[in-house]
Amino acid sequence: MSHSQQPKPLVAHRSGPLSGRVRVPGDKSISHRALMLGALATGTTRITGLLEAEDVLNTAKVVEALGARINRREGVIEVLGRGVGGLIQPSGPLDFGNSGTGCRLMMGVIAGHDIEARLVGDASLSRRPMRRVLTPLRQMGMGVVEDRETLPLTIRGTSSLVPIEYATPVPSAQVKSAVLFAGLATSGETTVIEREATRDHTERMFRYFGAEVRTAMRDGRHAITVVGDAELEGRDVKVPADPSSAAFLAAAAAIVPGSDVTIEGVLVNETRTGFYTTLREMGADVAFADLREENGEPIADIRVRHRALTGVVVPAARAPSMIDEYPVLAAVAAFAQGETRMEGLAELKVKESDRLAATAAGLIANGIGARVEGDTLVVEGRGAARGGGTVVTHMDHRIAMAFLILGLGTDRPVEVDDVTFVATSFPAFTGLMTGLGAKLEAK
Ligand code: S3P
Repeated sequence: MSHSQQPKPLVAHRSGPLSGRVRVPGDKSISHRALMLGALATGTTRITGLLEAEDVLNTAKVVEALGARINRREGVIEVLGRGVGGLIQPSGPLDFGNSGTGCRLMMGVIAGHDIEARLVGDASLSRRPMRRVLTPLRQMGMGVVEDRETLPLTIRGTSSLVPIEYATPVPSAQVKSAVLFAGLATSGETTVIEREATRDHTERMFRYFGAEVRTAMRDGRHAITVVGDAELEGRDVKVPADPSSAAFLAAAAAIVPGSDVTIEGVLVNETRTGFYTTLREMGADVAFADLREENGEPIADIRVRHRALTGVVVPAARAPSMIDEYPVLAAVAAFAQGETRMEGLAELKVKESDRLAATAAGLIANGIGARVEGDTLVVEGRGAARGGGTVVTHMDHRIAMAFLILGLGTDRPVEVDDVTFVATSFPAFTGLMTGLGAKLEAK
C-alpha cells in the first residue's frame, strides 16, 4: 500500500437495528496458506473464495516472484506449483506490505530453498519483531545477513535444512507455521511444542495436501510434528469466511439494540472462536447453525441477536483463539454493564500496531473508562457510551474497524482518522456494514 496516500477519515453514527444475512470475505490465514501450499505442491491448486485483500495479494505476488504461476479464471485462483524445494531465486526484494503472516510464514517457505531473498514491508510491518521466527529457522540452517530484529532483512535459505524440535517462547501460530513450513523441506521430523494451542490451519492444510503431520500432548503441552521430504499435491481449496472479519458484524449486532444478523459459511475452528464464546458469556444470543466441514475445517452460519450485556473476565488461556478480536471486544465491553477484564494480552503489543495502547486510547478518547494493568485491559462498561472522539488508527485495519463499530452505539459520532488500511483484510467492510443498516459516512 502506498504511504503517500492521503489519510481517509470515516465517521460512525449511532444506528438503528442492524439486520440481514451476509457473507464476509475469505479467511486471511487460510488464504495465505493456500497460496504458499499451492506454490510448494506439484500440479495445480484451485482456490475459490480467496481473500482478495492487500495482505493476501502481496503474498500472491511473492509466490509469483519465487517462480509459481498464478492465473485467475472466473473467480478461481489457480496456482501452478513447483514442488517442495523447487522455488527459484527472486529478481528483486519481496514486499509483504502490512502483513506479518505473509512475511513470517514465507520465511519458513524460503528457508528450505537455495535462495537469497531481501524481505521488505511498510512502516508498520518494519516495526514488528522477526527474531521469533529467525531464531528457530537459523537453528535449522537458514542464514540471516543482518543481525537485526526488524525488516528489511536478507535471508539465505538452503537445500540442506536440518529438522529441529522447538518449543515456542511466545504463543504464535506464525512462529509455529514458519517452522513447520521449513520442516517440509528437511529430511527428518520437525516438532514444534506450544504451551497453548494456536490456530492450526497449517497442520490441517498440510494433511490436506498430502504431508504427514502428527499431533500429541506432551507434559500438558501441544507437540506438532511434520515429516520432511514431503511431497505435496495440488488440491482444490474452498476458503471459508473469516471469523475475524465476521467478528465486526457480530459485535455490531451485539451492541445495537434490536439487531439480528446472520453471517454465512464462517470458519468455526475452535482455535478461532474465543470471541464468540466471550460474546455468549456476556449475554449476547450467538448461534452456530448448519455446522458442516469443508477441506478439513468446520464451517457454520453465525446468527447474533442483541441482548443486554454484562461485563466478564476473559481468561489469558483464551487469548490465542481470539487474538485479533480484542479491539472489537473492547468496543462491545463499553456497552455491557460492569467491568470487562481481558487478561494475557502481551502479544497485542506487537500486532499491526500496539493494540493494547491503541485500544485503550481510543476508548478514553470517547469517554469510556479503560486502563491497562500490565498485560490486562480493563474496560468499564456502563451500558452506554459517550463517543465524540477521534481515534488514531496507526496503520492498523482492526483498530479502524473496531472503533467504527463502537460509533454505531455511542451517543455522539466516533471518527476514525484513517481507514485506508482496512483494505489489507476487509475491503468490503464499509459496504457490508452500511448494507446491514450501519451509518458510516465520509467526513
Ligand atoms: C495468524 C496468526 C496470528 C494473528 C494473525 C494471523 C496466522 O498471529 O494475529 O492475524 O495466520 O497464523 P500470531 O500467531 O503471531 O499471534
